[in-house]
Amino acid sequence: MQKQYDVAVIGAGAAGMTCAAVAGQRGKKVILIDHASKLAEKIRISGGGRCNFTNTNAGPQNFLSQNPHFCKSVLARYTPQDFLSLIKRYRIGYHEKHKGQLFCNDSSEQIIDMLKAECSLGSVEWRMPCNIAGVGKSGEAFRIDTNAGEILASKVVIATGGLSIPKIGATDFAYRIARQFGLRIIEPQPGLVPLTFDSAAWQPFLPLAGIALLVEVKTGEKKARGEFKEDLLFTHRGLSGPAILQISSFWKPGTPLRLNLLPDIDVAETLIDDKTSVKKNLGNIFAQWLPTRLAHGIIEANQFDPAIRLADTPDRLLRNLGDAINCWTIQPSGSEGYRKAEVTLGGVGTQELSQQSMMSNQVAGLYFVGEAVDVTGWLGGYNFQWAWASGTAAGLDV
Ligand code: FDA
Repeated sequence: MQKQYDVAVIGAGAAGMTCAAVAGQRGKKVILIDHASKLAEKIRISGGGRCNFTNTNAGPQNFLSQNPHFCKSVLARYTPQDFLSLIKRYRIGYHEKHKGQLFCNDSSEQIIDMLKAECSLGSVEWRMPCNIAGVGKSGEAFRIDTNAGEILASKVVIATGGLSIPKIGATDFAYRIARQFGLRIIEPQPGLVPLTFDSAAWQPFLPLAGIALLVEVKTGEKKARGEFKEDLLFTHRGLSGPAILQISSFWKPGTPLRLNLLPDIDVAETLIDDKTSVKKNLGNIFAQWLPTRLAHGIIEANQFDPAIRLADTPDRLLRNLGDAINCWTIQPSGSEGYRKAEVTLGGVGTQELSQQSMMSNQVAGLYFVGEAVDVTGWLGGYNFQWAWASGTAAGLDV
């Protein structure tokens, strides 16, 4: 049985539900299709179950893309305040956690329910779970072949996200459709992901697993440079925590990370200044600043005896120790991959899309929104803001 719609939105995640609701509320006849049996799993598990749904500081500077200017227009036309107005209208309690990050007080389910309600206001029809065999052209319209019959639509919006967390239904659908219609793809890569090290090289750090501390981390040069001051977490396989998730999106395999484990203290200078006045040994001094296990680990990794007194340590060695803490340079061997990545970098090339509407420049009526596109936010609510904003831009245009 063939059914006809103004708009078919494929992927009922953050961007897809937003787009369908906006288009439906404009009076368009909309169908929303998803292959998953559980709705919007990524929203559900996000922010530890409380969904960090936006960031009050969100702007183009918080996004990575081959064209950093592309996201400007879409972000400017749908701001964090716009999403917040919706949240307030639905009386969803929220709080700011850290650096502009807004979370639900209770549960991310509230965001899903809100988006469902917005779709109902737009009389959006649902087909879910529903597998899609292919998307093609049928005259001016698009034909979508599904296991529940054929769907004809004047416009198609692809909102199937990226490759992160395949076990909850991530697929390469958006990239396949883009390639089929001749659109270029920026090679996808895991982003916001823990970094790993060769198991032999990581052996000495195994006892540090579980330690967390505030660090400054940097990688790259000039334009491609990333720099964050956030918490770091030692794990059994490498490094994680917000500092590492953030920097992972900038890190290129084969290049080092530079970590400052005590960003607020110039270790060499402080130790040299204190040499005559402080009678303690190195182990005790470092234990005031760093978790004891880490302090001793660093001192021993640099072949010092933690029992040696500060006064008896030559300045040259104190400078080496300062470098080991204020500029620890390490080279990850890889990442935990899509299994653990919060997002996918790369995707449908922005040069292929209108920066106003998200429609393909080559194929009239074909749109890509959300994480499927080569626009990736930092950690902290930016990725959802992109999903709401790009979904709205397409929803207003279809
Ligand atoms: P999304 O992935 O949400 O939706 C895609 C939809 O398409 C899914 O419903 C999927 O089932 C469907 N689909 C896929 N392939 C299909 C196919 N072949 N056929 C039919 N349907 C198909 N961001 C943020 O801003 N704040 C946060 O707190 C978090 N937290 C977080 C935690 C974890 C664990 C992860 C993995 C990710 C986050 N994120 C986040 C990132 C955020 O979840 C992500 O960027 C958005 O969900 C992207 O929205 P989209 O709608 O583009 O894709």
